Amino acid sequence: MTVSMKKKGMIVAGVMSGTSADGINVAVLCMRPQGSPRDSEASDSPGGVARASLVHTTLELIGHAEYSYPKKVRAAVLAAMNASRASVAGLARLNFLLGELYSDAVLATERQFRVKADLVGCHGQTLYHQGEPARFLGRKIAATWQTGEAAIIAARVAAPVVSDFRPADMAAGGKGAPLVPFLDYMLFRDSHVGRIVQNIGGIANLTAIPAGATPRELVAFDTGPGNMVIDAVTDKLFRQPFDRGGRIAASGKVLEKVIHQMLHRDFFRKAPPKTAGREEFGREFVREFLRSCGRCRKQDAVATATALTAKAIAEAIQRYTIKNSARKRHFQEMILSGGGAKNSTLVTMLTDELAPIGLQLRFSDEFGLPSAAKEAVAFAILAHETWHRHASNVPSATGAKRSAVLGKISYP
Ligand SMILES: Nc1ncnc2c1ncn2[C@@H]1O[C@H](COP(=O)(O)OP(=O)(O)O)[C@@H](O)[C@H]1O
Ligand SMILES: [Mg+2]
Repeated sequence: MTVSMKKKGMIVAGVMSGTSADGINVAVLCMRPQGSPRDSEASDSPGGVARASLVHTTLELIGHAEYSYPKKVRAAVLAAMNASRASVAGLARLNFLLGELYSDAVLATERQFRVKADLVGCHGQTLYHQGEPARFLGRKIAATWQTGEAAIIAARVAAPVVSDFRPADMAAGGKGAPLVPFLDYMLFRDSHVGRIVQNIGGIANLTAIPAGATPRELVAFDTGPGNMVIDAVTDKLFRQPFDRGGRIAASGKVLEKVIHQMLHRDFFRKAPPKTAGREEFGREFVREFLRSCGRCRKQDAVATATALTAKAIAEAIQRYTIKNSARKRHFQEMILSGGGAKNSTLVTMLTDELAPIGLQLRFSDEFGLPSAAKEAVAFAILAHETWHRHASNVPSATGAKRSAVLGKISYP
């Protein structure tokens, strides 16, 4: 990442809590729009026309911090994703409670790095995401819901907050996800090197950026489970929230038959754009996965869940980015980020899967972007775009019919 902090830079905090429901990531950036003053005047003026721009901002990452959810909060968040265990009062309270927790996280990060945010971008905690329209009460409806009350954050942090990024893309006919390709393109495009930018959070998603690509040429989609199945299996069999360092998986044997069986499911056979969440790889899936593992050793089940993530990624790349494209794509590098980058067994398995495809594995950290910070950085950048009335969905990634300014703004 380039740039020194200039006088006119804006301090923007990005707040992310993903489908792992492990906690809150906060990134603080200094951002400065580039381009002619006339451009920014036009886009800042009330009623100004939204302008799609992918490359007009320079940024500096000031710092990043992670806060785990308290145990009871994590349990409440996971329960809220489960319709049969959620109550309306509980959801309403959770929305305000998360607003308070996000505020605490931003304020603590501000103190740590001695900055004051001018703007906050908060993704919120997804409780439900259904990117595809389906019949509901006589109409075809797609729906998404990110919770964490932005009015609370704006009041506590004393800064405007952009939240609820996904619905505007869906209103434009998109699936509301993925939104991170905007950042991927901004930071990782290269005129000579084709790159697959891969994040492994609860769900794993990629952005394929051919060498010299325009935004229209990006392919981005969820490849399947990231840490979600590994976490659930580890929790169930070992009573640990995740497989730290991939140590349990390292002591187990991969059950190839189970992998083969799982990769036959509809999700993996479907062409992008496609998105996944707990709806696809949550409790039901895990139950079926464990049933397929039969009476195997506990560590074999964890090893197999880990291999499933690696193989689903490699298969998705072969099927939907290399082979299935209009002109032949050459990709040389994978840039990895997300909590899964800390799972050494997963990283080793992924490296082995990528070698035959000719992809070299690199980490986003090498580019000045700590793996765990990436999605929080993305929502700081998206908030900044929205603040300047710039569209920031990538229609080729979400399937939207047009570009859209994302999110809603709450004022302090
Ligand atoms: N040291 C570690 N070893 C193994 N896995 C880890 C480690 N740290 C984080 N993870 C994994 O990363 C997940 C969190 O990743 P994250 O990128 O925050 O996902 P999300 O965006 O879904 O919240 C954890 O649930 C865990 O599975
Ligand atoms: Mg997380």
